Amino acid sequence: MSILSLQNVSKDYLSDGQRVEALKGLSLEADRGAFVALVGRSGCGKSTLLNLAGAMDFPTSGQVLVEGISTSSLNDAALTRLRREKVGFIFQSFQLLHTLTVFENVELPLLLAGEARAREAARERLEWVELKGLGDRYPHQLSGGQMQRVAIARALIHSPSLILADEPTGNLDTTTGNVILELLRRLTREQNTATILATHSLEAAALADRVARMRDGKIEEIVER
Ligand SMILES: Nc1ncnc2c1ncn2[C@@H]1O[C@H](COP(=O)(O)OP(=O)(O)OP(=O)(O)O)[C@@H](O)[C@H]1O
Ligand SMILES: [Mg+2]
Repeated sequence: MSILSLQNVSKDYLSDGQRVEALKGLSLEADRGAFVALVGRSGCGKSTLLNLAGAMDFPTSGQVLVEGISTSSLNDAALTRLRREKVGFIFQSFQLLHTLTVFENVELPLLLAGEARAREAARERLEWVELKGLGDRYPHQLSGGQMQRVAIARALIHSPSLILADEPTGNLDTTTGNVILELLRRLTREQNTATILATHSLEAAALADRVARMRDGKIEEIVER
């Protein structure tokens, strides 16, 4: 079974009474261990696709299945659980909480879910992203690349099956960005997640197993490596 399956998905937005067709009937599958890059011009629908995949929003028509379950069929409690436990989000702007330490940022999703033993899990995730020893720092005491590693550790805290990364290297220099991408690719294999990466960078796409080229709300071409 695919971790993520988009089946003939369309998404319309209403903006000032105008209908914007952000996605126009596209399909995509991702299994465990797959590292998939979404590339295409600004406005082609990459972030929209990721939002649907993470059940942050829902298709106008077609189906989005996460681990075989349609996101449109879930009630609020089930949606919260899906977003929290099955999906890890990584953003261009890192989205760390600046008044919390590195440990606390990484632990937060577990604490919100009422789980004990959060520190132990956070320590392990920080080792995965090679930030051992930095848990007591605050985000402003880190480099951009280190902040993104913290965000990746946080995204992995629930051992999600699906990682959604929206331009994760957009605020980093090329060298640091490539290190982050290599890290994401390694973790995709080691943790056996399905990872979908939206990117403008061709270098980033070059690291992926599969590149879906988007244009104007559609997938034009899927290249397997
Ligand atoms: N909440 C919204 N309301 C109305 N229109 C939206 C909304 N979100 C996105 N759109 C429109 O949907 C289309 C796809 O946007 P999307 O953000 O998915 O593109 P993108 O590929 O992520 O672009 P970028 O590379 O700039 O991040 C665009 O035309 C955009 O203006
Ligand atoms: Mg976007």
